[in-house]
Formats: sequence, C-alpha cells, structure tokens
Amino acid sequence: MATISLGDALRAGAEITMTVEPRPPTPPPPEPEPACRWEAMWKRGLEPGDAFDVGGVSGALASYLKRAPRPPEGSAALVPGCGRAYDALALARHGFDRVVAVDIAPTAVRAAMSFLEDEADGYDEDLGIYYIQIKGTRFTKIEVYEVDFFDVPDKFDFIWDCTFLCALDPSLREKWATKQKALLDENGTLLSCIFPICEKVGGPPYALSVPLVTELLKPEGFEAVETRVWR
Ligand SMILES: C[S@@+](CC[C@H](N)C(=O)[O-])C[C@H]1O[C@@H](n2cnc3c(N)ncnc32)[C@H](O)[C@@H]1O
Repeated sequence: MATISLGDALRAGAEITMTVEPRPPTPPPPEPEPACRWEAMWKRGLEPGDAFDVGGVSGALASYLKRAPRPPEGSAALVPGCGRAYDALALARHGFDRVVAVDIAPTAVRAAMSFLEDEADGYDEDLGIYYIQIKGTRFTKIEVYEVDFFDVPDKFDFIWDCTFLCALDPSLREKWATKQKALLDENGTLLSCIFPICEKVGGPPYALSVPLVTELLKPEGFEAVETRVWR
C-alpha cells in the first residue's frame, strides 16, 4: 500500500479539506446522590449546634407542644430527616406512643442513637427501641432508622417536618407532598416548619414560602388549619 505524507500531498498541490468537529463540552460531573451528599456533610463532623443542628428541641416544635393537648393513646409520630433526633425525643416526652425518626445519612442515625442513649430512660437492644417514661407512669418509644423518607412505610397520626422539605431538591417537592399524604392517617396532622423564607437561588436549604408549601399540599387534599410565625 502506498502512503503519502501530508507534506508531500500539499507539495503535489493536493487540496486537502479538514473538517474540525467542535469538541463536545465536557459534561459537569454528576451531582452526588442525596444520601452521599448528606452523609458527606454529617461525616465532616457536624457537632451539636453546628449548621442546622440547633443542639436541642426546635423552638417551633417546643412552642407548638406547649399548647397541644396530649395525643390520644396509641398515637404515632414521624420525624423525617431527623438529624440528631432532638425533636423525636420531645414528641415521645409529649406522649406520642410511637415516634419513628428517619434519616438518610448513616452518620446522622448514629448521632441520633448516641444522643438517645444518653437521654432515653431505657433501650431494648433486641428491638432497637428507646423508651421514654411519662411522668413516672407509662413508657413511650422511639425507633430510629436509616432510610430514605420516600421509602418509609406505615401510617402516622402526626408528622413533624422540620427543615426537611428545604433539604430536598426542588424537583422532589410534588413527590414530597404525595408521600406526606400517603404516610398520614386520614385525620392526621402534618406540622411543617417552613424555612428558610427568603429569595435565593440554590441550596440546600432551598428557599421556601408559605404559599409555595400550601399550593404543594392542596392537590393532595391538605387544608391549612393554622399558620404561625415563630421567631
Ligand atoms: C436540614 S437537616 C435537618 C435535620 C433535623 N430535622 C434538624 O432540624 O436538626 C436535613 C436532614 O435530612 C436528611 N435527609 C435528606 N434527604 C433525606 C431523605 N430523602 N430521607 C431522609 N432523610 C433525608 C439529612 O441527612 C439531614 O440530616
């Protein structure tokens, strides 16, 4: 086979057309999965009082529980994206018989368990359940699971969504509303702490507003019974 160099070809007067295809832009690296992103944040060493961790029960929940009657016996509550589970403890102390606290980040779940080991009145190692004694009488229980909110089974009478919606990618908001509906008992209550209320792009936390959350929940049949500003 005869080969000819580019230089020889040009000297011989050959017309050479070169097509230069534009190089496709390098795609940005894929966003890490939410579980990895949150786990990375927890793993960096999130101490009580750092970032979103308020170091104790959320002020908004404490203020609500002060005026909320004790729930009827047998009531169950869910805390999605529970972090250190301070609020799960407050709900169990308030009288919810079963409180389920879930977080997608394994380190958050370990932090919650370590917190509850110190604070709970008892722990059943076989069942993985923490017990809280109510005024020297009955016990309520707290279960902590490493699970994605969207995979939580069961039904609950009360859901405390505290800085959880703002932690989710905005593309998941309708799915969040549908899942809340699926998890709540027919006469159940969803209490949501809408934060941060501001104008900003990006997150987490992603900016929210009362009308935004109200409109998200309306198609699922939710009715806003009370909106309070907590400072
Ligand atoms: C802003 S933090 C709030 C933590 C807690 N509610 C508090 O107030 O301290 C959001 C939490 O949700 C968790 N999370 C994010 N996406 C989740 C998901 N799909 N399912 C369960 N937990 C999730 C994160 O790991 C993180 O601990």
